[in-house]
Amino acid sequence: MERIVIQGGTPLQGKIRISGAKNAALPIMAASLLCHGRCSLSNVPALRDVNTMVVLLRDLGVVIGQPEPGRLELDASEARGHRASYDLVRTMRASVLVLGPLIARFGRAEVSLPGGCAIGARPINIHLMGLEKLGATISIENGYACAEASVLKGAKITLDFPTVTGTMNIMMAASLAKGSSVIENAACEPEVGELASALNLMGARIYGAGSDRIEIHGVESLSGMSYEIMPDRIETGTFLVAGAITGGDITVQGCRPEHLDAVINKLREAGAEIFIRDHDIRIRRLGELHAVDVKTGVYPAFATDMQAQFMALMTIARGSSVITETVFENRFMHVAELLRMGADILVEGNNAVVRGVEQLSGAPLMATDLRASASLILAGLAAQGETTVSRIYHIDRGYEKIEKKLQDLGAKIRREKEPEKNTVQTV
Ligand code: UD1
Repeated sequence: MERIVIQGGTPLQGKIRISGAKNAALPIMAASLLCHGRCSLSNVPALRDVNTMVVLLRDLGVVIGQPEPGRLELDASEARGHRASYDLVRTMRASVLVLGPLIARFGRAEVSLPGGCAIGARPINIHLMGLEKLGATISIENGYACAEASVLKGAKITLDFPTVTGTMNIMMAASLAKGSSVIENAACEPEVGELASALNLMGARIYGAGSDRIEIHGVESLSGMSYEIMPDRIETGTFLVAGAITGGDITVQGCRPEHLDAVINKLREAGAEIFIRDHDIRIRRLGELHAVDVKTGVYPAFATDMQAQFMALMTIARGSSVITETVFENRFMHVAELLRMGADILVEGNNAVVRGVEQLSGAPLMATDLRASASLILAGLAAQGETTVSRIYHIDRGYEKIEKKLQDLGAKIRREKEPEKNTVQTV
């Protein structure tokens, strides 16, 4: 096991380049199951979740090569599996993204139900409802969602909640259905638009993705294509917070500023100066931080995937801020660890009241999930003294070489092997 060790207190300076988006790469990789022919993807981030998707797709018979770093070639022409096992789905919930493609391509899919996780119950009932509307018969057997359909037929599907991966699954299945489908109350996240662009290059006919109404005209078959994965908006936001929390001056290069309006507005309100030029964002903080309230929501509102990082920032802001989480029911796992650094946070239901303190102090911490780990690293960068973050495998799921990128900005951060623990015998 590895851990990250940080000596806090250095204002970050310099430039870093943003990697490809995890949440765009994963669905586009899953979409390769829909087509005959080779899908060549570039700007694919080197992440644990991407590796997990490679293992899952290979298990389903997709031939995958990596001709060079950042590039994947996927050929599902000979794919024939239809089962995503519990072992894989429990390590990565996004494995559920093979459900739509499998039922559309093979008329059969068995995908383990993901179960709860650190941030909430996370059911997939809306995914299943959408596939049923398209004509699939669904049953739950031995912990698996089993879907069958001799033919999928276009339908009008209104989602109870604009679930991101649910919208993607239904959109992928509808691409090969007979006739036209409409998804109402669809997720508007940029990654949905990105998946639709990739599917359209495969020959799908999808209109309106990125808005809350998506129209899909089913086609007979899909073929290979080449696609460059867009930059990761959550990695971008995380580095912007790193600049702000350390009182630094950094430029985040190769990003899409238009995907981060809500985060940029809140950072400005908190006292950071932000300059945007094409695909670069420069953030500088000279004065003190001010407390601002944040409420997460579906895109274009403030992303739940940025909540933990923004809370780290608010722990050292002047005044009190209320952070409201509306997307997941249990996404305050980082609070207990931030308290160990001297933060003042009170959680009541889905609100966290953060009273800014003068200074955080370094401490040994435990990462609980992907974005919580990012929040702890950010807090460690600002804290006085040494912070260690254990269970760092969470961060490798979604951030490419985070410690290397932070080192390039001047942070005193390193990765090391977790030392052997003394075991305490209890009687
Ligand atoms: C995706 C992102 C994740 C992000 C989340 C919210 C990927 C791979 N992951 O996750 O990083 O945090 O969007 O922006 O893109 N829900 C139901 N029934 C369903 C589906 C969802 O009740 O069938 C609920 C969930 O429990 C949750 C909320 O809807 O409370 C949002 O979940 P959803 O948008 O589905 O998140 P994911 O697609 O899993």
